[in-house]
Formats: sequence, C-alpha cells, structure tokens
Amino acid sequence: MKLNIAKLPGDGIGPEVVEEAVKVVEAVCRRFGHEVSWHFAFAGACAIDRFGDAFPEETYRTCLDADAVLFGAVGDPRYDNDPTAKVRPEQGLLAMRKKLGLYANLRPVETFKPLVHKSPLKENLVDGADFLVIRELTGGMYFGEKGRRDNGDTAFDTNIYHRYEIERILKQAFSYAKQRRGHLTVVDKANVLESSRLWRQIAQEMAPGYPEVTTDYMFVDNAAMKLITGPKFFDVIVTENTFGDILTDEASVVSGSMGLLASASVGEKTGVYEPIHGSWPQAAGKGIANPVAAILSAAMMFEYAFGLMAEGKAIRQAVADSLAAGIVTDDLAGGGKAYTTSQVGDWIADRINEQ
Ligand code: IPM
Ligand code: MN
Repeated sequence: MKLNIAKLPGDGIGPEVVEEAVKVVEAVCRRFGHEVSWHFAFAGACAIDRFGDAFPEETYRTCLDADAVLFGAVGDPRYDNDPTAKVRPEQGLLAMRKKLGLYANLRPVETFKPLVHKSPLKENLVDGADFLVIRELTGGMYFGEKGRRDNGDTAFDTNIYHRYEIERILKQAFSYAKQRRGHLTVVDKANVLESSRLWRQIAQEMAPGYPEVTTDYMFVDNAAMKLITGPKFFDVIVTENTFGDILTDEASVVSGSMGLLASASVGEKTGVYEPIHGSWPQAAGKGIANPVAAILSAAMMFEYAFGLMAEGKAIRQAVADSLAAGIVTDDLAGGGKAYTTSQVGDWIADRINEQ
C-alpha cells in the first residue's frame, strides 16, 4: 500500500518524538512492504515564527492532501504568560481540529504489566484497566462565543452544543462500546449545565438503538474520582470537549506516564494522530522525552487511517517488549537506567524488523 502521511512535528519535544514515530513507521513499512511518503508542514509556534499564523493555509492543504497526519505538539513559553498575545500556538491546533472537522478524539488508556508497580495508584486498582475516552473535539467552550465586556473586566466563554454535534459523537461512542465490552459511560454535569442536559437527553434517546450496550451516566466530578479510585469500572467514556481534556490528563496517570498516551482525532477529513502530552518545552532537545505516545499514535494511524491491523499490532508488541526489557526514558526509569528518546525509538524500530 502507498501511504501518504503529513508530518507536523510542531514545537518543543514534538519534533523529537515524531522523529522516533517516523523511524517506527518506516520499519513497519519495510517489514510489511508498504511505500511511505512524508509531507512536512509547520504548525504551532514554529509556524507563527515563519508565517505569523499557527496553522497556515499551506499546512492545511498538506493535511487535506494526505491520508493521515502525524502530529507532535504545539506550545511555547513565550506565549504562556502573556494573556494579551494576539496569536498563540494552541490556536494552530484548534484551527486544525476545526478545519479538518476532527470532532472525535479517541484516547485509549491501558496499563502495561511491567509498569503497574510504578503507578502512583495501588497496583490492584490499575492492573488490567483498559478503557477508551472519546472526547468531543470541535464544540463546547473551546469554540463557543468568547470575549470580554466592561472594559475587559468581565470575560466569558460559551459552552454551546448543537444536537447534530452531540448525535454524531454519541454514535461513535455507542459503536466503539459495541465493539469493545459493551459498556458506555456518558460523563456530564447534567445537574447544573443545560448543555449537559441536552447531551443526556440525546444519549437516552439513542441508547435503545444499541441494546448490546449498557449505558450509564455519571457527573464529571464523580467520574474524576472514579477514574483514580476504580478505573477498571470503565470501558468507553464519552464526554464534551473541556471535560474530556481534563479527564484524559488525569487518566494518563493510570497507565503510569503521560508519555504513553496516544490519540486519534477523526471526523470529516484527514485524521490526525498525536500523543496527548504537550510540547514540554523545558525538555526540548535534551533527549529525555518519551517517544512511546507518539509511536503508539502511529500504531493508531495504521489501524484507523489505513485499516492495517497487523501493522498496528506489530508496533504495540514492540512497545510492550521495550517496556518489559526496561528500555525506557527517564519518566519510567524509576531510578534505574534511563535511555534517550532516540535509543528507545531505535530499539522499538529494530524490534519490528526482528519480529
Ligand atoms: C490537548 C491539549 C490541547 C487542548 C491544548 C494544547 C490546546 O491540552 O490536546 O489535550 O486543550 O485540547
Ligand atoms: Mn489536554
């Protein structure tokens, strides 16, 4: 198969981890006989520096023309403490999500046997946890009307959802739950928020259409607690944009490190595959970033964008082997030997060729 992949490394540790994912994709293509072509584009602070725009038209075109986008991270401390900045790297990510219609963000959380004892949570709580968070990605407060009034002394962000937005994400959620263990948890704040009540109403309308799925409803504050006191309760979680953002950072603790969590953002146009960790600018260039989240995002790309399941599995197996062999970066070394970003990437890529 010929794979046309847009490569958007972005900022901070993005370029380092994406480079390792590229190595792994190339190893997979060698082994399975695929031909890959890469199309580089700028996004985030590096795009602002060059074009004054965090998601330039040219980058958008590159994404549209590709079969999948491999994305790193965006963000730069130059903008973080400047609330008056007119352009921000994060706008690039949001523009990409909106323009590509990426309304469904799939963030799987699983535990890895060799790492369970390293979790800050009790081993028996996390061992075997395996769930998928589906975060709505193009609606809610992130994109609702926002602004300032009263000479700038009053600020607002509108948490707005339309029926079609809720229906299409719930449809995905029910169908993933059906393919998995048949348990869907709709997370909202329906005791307070009108938008959440609409989510719950629509979920209740749709649930009878999926008799194989047991659907339950949980308030987000309770879900935040349940994620760390009993993560094995969950199979598929579906929630709105802001809640999903917060809960998935929290959920990353379950697998042991944020450096392990991959994601796929899919919807109307080309899908984007990216680690959920951010740009971690303090670590950029030091070779300490964990490339596994980016590498597992490449596995999701093979599976979701190309339907190449064996290729995805080969990556997952090589990652599992690297963790079992203790070939890990500092975040997972726990005082033992830490390998560099590229050593971990090389090991995983070599492993794929040896399998
Ligand atoms: C994420 C990130 C982004 C978000 C930021 C960088 C805009 O935290 O992908 O989770 O809030 O969606
Ligand atoms: Mn986030």
